[in-house]
Amino acid sequence: MMRQSNILESELTLSLRHTVTGDLQLPASKSISLRAMLLAAMGKGAVTIENTLISEDTLVMKDLLTDLGVSVSFLSESSNGLEFSSNGVCIISGCDGFFPGLEQNRRITLNVKNSGLSARTILPSLAFMLFNPRANCSVFLDGVERMRSRPMSELFSVLESLGSKISFPKQKSSFPCELSPSAGRKITEIGIDCSKSSQVLTGLLQILPFLNSIFSKKIKLIALGSIVSRPYIDLTMHILSKFGCSIVETQPGQFYTSALGVRSPKNFRVEGDASSASYFFASACIGGGPIRVHGISEDSKQGDIKLLDVLKRIGAVVRWSNSYVEIFRKGRLRGIEIDCLEIPDAAMVLSTLALFCDQPTKLTNIASWKEKETDRIAAVVQGLERLGVSVYREGEYSITIHPVPCLKSAKISTFNDHRIAMTFSMAAFALKDEVEQVKNRVLQIENPVCVEKTFPYFFEEFSRVCSEAVPVITVDGPTASGKGTIANHVGKNLGFNVLDSGAFYRSVALIIKRENIDESDHLAIASRAKTLSMRKQGSRFFLGEDDVTMLMRDEKIGLLASKIAKYEDVRRALIMAQRDFARLPGLVADGRDMGSIVFPKGALRVFLTAKPEIRAKRRFKQLIEKEIPCTLNDIFQDISDRDNSDYNRSVASLSLAEEGATLTIDSSSKTIEEVVEIIVSEYKSLS
Ligand code: DC
Repeated sequence: MMRQSNILESELTLSLRHTVTGDLQLPASKSISLRAMLLAAMGKGAVTIENTLISEDTLVMKDLLTDLGVSVSFLSESSNGLEFSSNGVCIISGCDGFFPGLEQNRRITLNVKNSGLSARTILPSLAFMLFNPRANCSVFLDGVERMRSRPMSELFSVLESLGSKISFPKQKSSFPCELSPSAGRKITEIGIDCSKSSQVLTGLLQILPFLNSIFSKKIKLIALGSIVSRPYIDLTMHILSKFGCSIVETQPGQFYTSALGVRSPKNFRVEGDASSASYFFASACIGGGPIRVHGISEDSKQGDIKLLDVLKRIGAVVRWSNSYVEIFRKGRLRGIEIDCLEIPDAAMVLSTLALFCDQPTKLTNIASWKEKETDRIAAVVQGLERLGVSVYREGEYSITIHPVPCLKSAKISTFNDHRIAMTFSMAAFALKDEVEQVKNRVLQIENPVCVEKTFPYFFEEFSRVCSEAVPVITVDGPTASGKGTIANHVGKNLGFNVLDSGAFYRSVALIIKRENIDESDHLAIASRAKTLSMRKQGSRFFLGEDDVTMLMRDEKIGLLASKIAKYEDVRRALIMAQRDFARLPGLVADGRDMGSIVFPKGALRVFLTAKPEIRAKRRFKQLIEKEIPCTLNDIFQDISDRDNSDYNRSVASLSLAEEGATLTIDSSSKTIEEVVEIIVSEYKSLS
């Protein structure tokens, strides 16, 4: 169901960047999606959760609920098969306080994988449902290795004090564990230590109204000591209120509700993820921006939105509108001291934003970073040191990052942690003094697929906004319309780079022929296309060390290219690599979907055509000059067939490019020079 991103499992080399601009539609909030899904499952009636995140973590919750007998379905929202959207609609049929699967006489095995929030919220729900006399089975829970060492013992102790029967086959108070039916104990107060994780408190808050109902008591939930990442508790209370359960904080850290269960809304909408936004906010500060981030509002209850206040202190300008927040840099970026207690996730990006500041940056109150998907303090320090940056670490309390004039080439270990991968992508920007050296700097992110936990299309979106800061002229058109020739001339005239996008499809065709990959196996072709390492040197194309310029031009390869170009998966696999061609001072890109799909924000989008008989004559002349035998009739027929297929195919059709063009040129009675002149002067008139 989940669309895999285009990213490889091994490592990703990020193109080095200078600028960034554009719009970003945020992936939906993971924190809100997971809370709403579980509340909807525990409540009564069907709930349609609009704009739910479809990522690894929410798929974990979906699987947990499905295994417990709850009906959950995801519908992807993407209208155009070539968009990179991870948001969808989730429909859940609530079970009215008791997961139906628990009634069966069997042992249920659940896997929370690497989702801390799913683990810490599903456990309390199971615990109270297993107090129900209808419960007839035990539930075994486990996760990935890291989950076995993340803080859970406080939660297990509380559940045991409530009467839960829990056994631990490996280590006391750690995953894996097995819960069995038992009678609950009537208690009036629950105390829980939330100094390491606020998620344990969220898990208990979400079952508080159900416990009230079972025990016919209004139970008080008391946070012992300070609550780490407090804004997440406010978010939980906010979502509970949307499910008809208002939680009152009688004194700081003491929670109570008079609700006896939840009242599910029919519809619930999830807003964009403030933590995922942090990388794009930081990109705008480093690369200049502006970036407009859509899907989140100024009054969001997500704590990580407060990162914007920090960025303003560093040198960003932030402007809210009704539908987006715009952010850009004004002047230099200042290194300052930042208390990260309330924004533990969003603050991570500050560790690489610090590289672009004029003074050292000190990040304090970061102890909770140690307890996340990996020990994030250690991972950040290691990554920074690999980049040649000196970091001063004060135990678990703070790190101070000293900017350097240039960074070293580095391969960053991500430890399967999505935030480490996204944080270190910021090092793809060139430092101010690095202009020359940067050409030789290589930045690689290991195991980049880990971003699928919360932001499946992070790298695609990052490469898109970086490419949108570069002036791009697109030239799309039917076969033999002269696009390639015109693009090369325009590129030369303006000093821009040139992308012959057909070369990507031809290269893939060449590879599948060489490697005997079945031409109808679109999944195998797409997966091979992701690893395509096509290089252009002058006017020659290389696959690895092989010069394939001539081979690629073979008619049979052209035909095969046109066949595989109809596969949506193959096209998706090639989009990011094509966008990466956009480098300053500019790019001229020719193909069939340059202006419609790959560079829809291109400064000038040309549609170049000519009458089929004229195109046939031009191609005939070319081939005869090369002494390739052919007849005009055959060529005319071939061109008509290709037009038919290119205009009418279901993905990235030529008609789309024609509709989206800002300049259409019929070159039937024009020379190359005339066409080039029209494009160049039109482009110049724009600036
Ligand atoms: O432009 P060309 O002949 O080199 O392209 C080879 C094939 O690749 C062509 O049949 C259509 C396909 N193609 C495409 O679908 N989209 C592009 N942007 C470029 C080429």
